[in-house]
Amino acid sequence: MNQKNSTDKVLSVLVVCLGNICRSPAAQGILEDNINKQSLNINVDSAGTAAYHVGNSPDRRSISTLSLRGLDISQQQARQVKTSDFEYFDWILAMDKSNLKDLQSSCPASLSHKLALFSSFSGANEDVADPYYGADDGFERMADHLERLSQSFLDKIESEY
Ligand code: 4NP
Repeated sequence: MNQKNSTDKVLSVLVVCLGNICRSPAAQGILEDNINKQSLNINVDSAGTAAYHVGNSPDRRSISTLSLRGLDISQQQARQVKTSDFEYFDWILAMDKSNLKDLQSSCPASLSHKLALFSSFSGANEDVADPYYGADDGFERMADHLERLSQSFLDKIESEY
């Protein structure tokens, strides 16, 4: 961000949820697809605040929901947020307010400007609902929501860099 307006700066973005198997892998897949289509210079990764599913593939319901939209997220592997992420990434975007609170509690104060709720770029203050314990249609709503929020984020980033 201190290189604002630099044309060759590659921005890096970390999207974060709780388990890194449902929402943030889907957000990563959708962002990467939009970034490719718009020829933007942005790298995306995802992680979870919790370690429950470290090393696992995304939830099969996230994989199939995105597959029906032409996106393959099956090769992603869950990992937990680590301290060096706060240094490395330009933006660290939380799927819900609980994730944001967890990130705020472990992020050094000097780097906390990198943290944001994903929905904040659309002018909202809403959670991406956690679909893990719900029915399959929750994954469709999640993907619709993530597509809207991804575009809002990229529009905002494009206007600023
Ligand atoms: P995610 O969903 O945070 O979107 O990956 C969840 C995945 C697993 C659990 C909770 C939420 N879990 O409790 O195991």
